[in-house]
Amino acid sequence: MKKGDEFIVNIERFSNLGTGIAKIDGQIVFVENACPEDKVKIRISSVTKNYANASVTEIIEPSRYRTNPICPLQRICGSCQLGFIDYDYQLKLKHNIVEDSILKIGNIDTKVQDTIPSPKIKNYRQKMQYPVSETKNSKRIIAGYFKQKTHEIVNIKYCPIQPTICDEIVEFIRGKAHEFGISGYVEKTHKGDLRHIVIRGSEYSGKILVTLVINKQYCYSELVSKSNNFALFAQNIYEHFDEVTGVCLNFNNKKTNVILGEKTECVAGVDFVEEKIINKVFKIGADTFFQVNPKSAENIFKYVKKEVKKFESPTVLDAYAGIATFGIVVSDVAKSVVSVESNKSSIEKAKEVLKENNIENVELFAQDTVKYLKSIKKNFDITILDPPRKGCTQESLDETLNHTKKEIIYVSCNPATLARDLKYLVSKGCKVESIQPFDMFCHTYHVETVVIIKI
Ligand SMILES: C[S@@+](CC[C@H](N)C(=O)[O-])C[C@H]1O[C@@H](n2cnc3c(N)ncnc32)[C@H](O)[C@@H]1O
Repeated sequence: MKKGDEFIVNIERFSNLGTGIAKIDGQIVFVENACPEDKVKIRISSVTKNYANASVTEIIEPSRYRTNPICPLQRICGSCQLGFIDYDYQLKLKHNIVEDSILKIGNIDTKVQDTIPSPKIKNYRQKMQYPVSETKNSKRIIAGYFKQKTHEIVNIKYCPIQPTICDEIVEFIRGKAHEFGISGYVEKTHKGDLRHIVIRGSEYSGKILVTLVINKQYCYSELVSKSNNFALFAQNIYEHFDEVTGVCLNFNNKKTNVILGEKTECVAGVDFVEEKIINKVFKIGADTFFQVNPKSAENIFKYVKKEVKKFESPTVLDAYAGIATFGIVVSDVAKSVVSVESNKSSIEKAKEVLKENNIENVELFAQDTVKYLKSIKKNFDITILDPPRKGCTQESLDETLNHTKKEIIYVSCNPATLARDLKYLVSKGCKVESIQPFDMFCHTYHVETVVIIKI
């Protein structure tokens, strides 16, 4: 088998990266935009020692799970890999992704519950990060997601998974940037001004925080000068949209794929939007981690709170805390909570949330989880672990076990690292009691899972 070869195949299964899986002479082929039970003609795009990748060139017999694509750009834009599959079946596929990882990587046979659907499957995504560039000859600003596996921008005018106001703001920026002497960033030459548009919305208030990531070094005196074009543009965006609570500038002049630079300055309005989860209001800034689908996140927070409530006035550690969302949500049913988060600005936002919600039993630490745990003598009844996609280190799992008396609630956005970490915890004598997937990222292959682990 070689690049460019064509075959007709039946799609047998679905991979944990959102592609169909077919077999040709025993060799695994990952097929983009294909669904189990499809019969398709494919073209091989690359071949490695253990598997090949392919794309669909013709649908010969469509799977019964196919539906109208969520958006005309579904096959081009890399975001909604499952956007052509019936939503109920998407939930089933996500369940299977978790089950597969738990069994194959984790070697754990605890039953995986059915995926809890997202309350909204369109306009649900309250965070958007569009890379920006410009066309070669006419220098028109373009903004959108990267085409799958490339750094080629798909100039997106409409995205059904985001609030429609996001499309309007991006269109305004595309049309107006030149008036303010602002060009689009060109990755190849590392030249041009505007690198990314980052938008954070609120399901609760309908308000929006806009951040323009610019290819400049932060310079306070330049920024406050009355003629600074970026600040003037920010003010213009702020004044044009009633929904916009503030516009920030983020400074990133490094040659990097990391979107945000270290320095963010709010130059119009305020530097946050407010989101409400259960009965608590949270302030979310440009660089604070907050779940992208607040409605579905609320289901997870309720689930975790219900679990914590089973204990009588427990002490809780909220590790990898972000703006201490879990800690704050469970504070009503806990004796005390300690929230630990390495990002200082998230902890600053969390302090404000505690104050505004009159919460007095949550302590905050802007620290690495392991460093914090190594520095203390006390133990907690329950630890909530919500690490980034790479999961926990063995050291952080060991420290968690050293400091937790009864239960770990592991919240994961990556089934593979979750399964690896569960395997380790089980090898240390823990018992996996329940596994509950949630759909937070409809139409993508991503799945969030909450696991209850008894110590
Ligand atoms: C998946 S987010 C969870 C945030 C939060 N629990 C929530 O639901 O909004 C992971 C968080 O862990 C933080 N983080 C990453 N490594 C860390 C570490 N070693 N110690 C503490 N926090 C860390 C990140 O900054 C991020 O806010």
